[in-house]
Amino acid sequence: APPGPVLAIESSCDETACAILAPDGACLAQHVVSQDGHAHFGGVVPEIAARAHLALLPGVVRATLDEAGLHPADIGLVAASTGPGLIGGLIVGSGFAKGLALALDVPFVAVNHVEAHALTARLPGLVEGGAPFPYLLLLVSGGHCQCVAVEGVGQYRKLGGTIDDAAGEAFDKVAKMLGLGWPGGPALEKLAREGDPTAIPLPRPLWRRPGCDFSFSGLKTAIAQKLAPYGQDALPRRFAADLAASFQQAVADVVADRIEHALDMMPQARLLVAAGGVAANTVLRARLEDCAARAGVRFAAPPLRLCTDNAVMVGWAALETWREAARRHLPVPDDRAMRP
Ligand code: KG4
Ligand code: ZN
Repeated sequence: APPGPVLAIESSCDETACAILAPDGACLAQHVVSQDGHAHFGGVVPEIAARAHLALLPGVVRATLDEAGLHPADIGLVAASTGPGLIGGLIVGSGFAKGLALALDVPFVAVNHVEAHALTARLPGLVEGGAPFPYLLLLVSGGHCQCVAVEGVGQYRKLGGTIDDAAGEAFDKVAKMLGLGWPGGPALEKLAREGDPTAIPLPRPLWRRPGCDFSFSGLKTAIAQKLAPYGQDALPRRFAADLAASFQQAVADVVADRIEHALDMMPQARLLVAAGGVAANTVLRARLEDCAARAGVRFAAPPLRLCTDNAVMVGWAALETWREAARRHLPVPDDRAMRP
């Protein structure tokens, strides 16, 4: 284990986050600030995000240290997401973390953001029965949409991914077309509860095709066509709800189909883990549970606060990386932006 707690920073999108974990992975304190100032533009504006990270980080790090009751000198390791993500924010966060590590004379661990999502399920006590390797990860958020075979720390195989939009992006774009604001996933799910998921026929992109890639842009176009006759007129509530429900059903159908294939591609997996903001969707979650049950594997989805971007996952991935490097007598990675 490292000589003291790990202080971790996450800044790859629009969450400015810091967490401090004990060397055994217990979370001592954590803060996540979801930046405002993007909703007005209907999406995250990279330069605004980077400037906001710079403005917010000192206060967020200070608050996390205070809450943990620690002084900077107590920290044994500093970590940050170094990619993939919006480069401006990544540079602010990892530059801040590297400076802190230098001043404290402790090691810096560079963490791959997707790896951090992938390893979250292994946080002590999170998944009943633990999450031993190998397992299948479905990462579905606004920025990511992929199936990853998680075989060990630093050992990932991407089995498939989106060939156009991420799932969350599709939810957000459709929600925008329905006038639901941004981010639109939660609002769309709410509206869909009033609708009939079988009311409006929509395509199922890549349905039953080999592999486990995803595609959502055709679905988005189909929705735009259904909306076209209404022009600038207000949508009848009933129609909007049916469209939302039918869209959500189509997404759940294609994701379930892709996951069936991914589980076939990874017969050694005994566990399916869903992560990312879209994993909060209850219709999708139920379908995934069903897929797992049919394939005879366990299903786990970390609680929402650990599913969406946060620094706890970065700290945990740093601890796992540290331990793995020590076990193999390798240096800890301090400068990388590798992709699974
Ligand atoms: O993981 P996340 O917080 O951030 C990244 O994109 O990395 O995911 C946010 C995405 C947004 O696109 C949001 O609309 C979507 O997750 N989302 C949902 C739901 N809650 C959040 N999509 C569908 N149903 C939900 N309940
Ligand atoms: Zn993320």
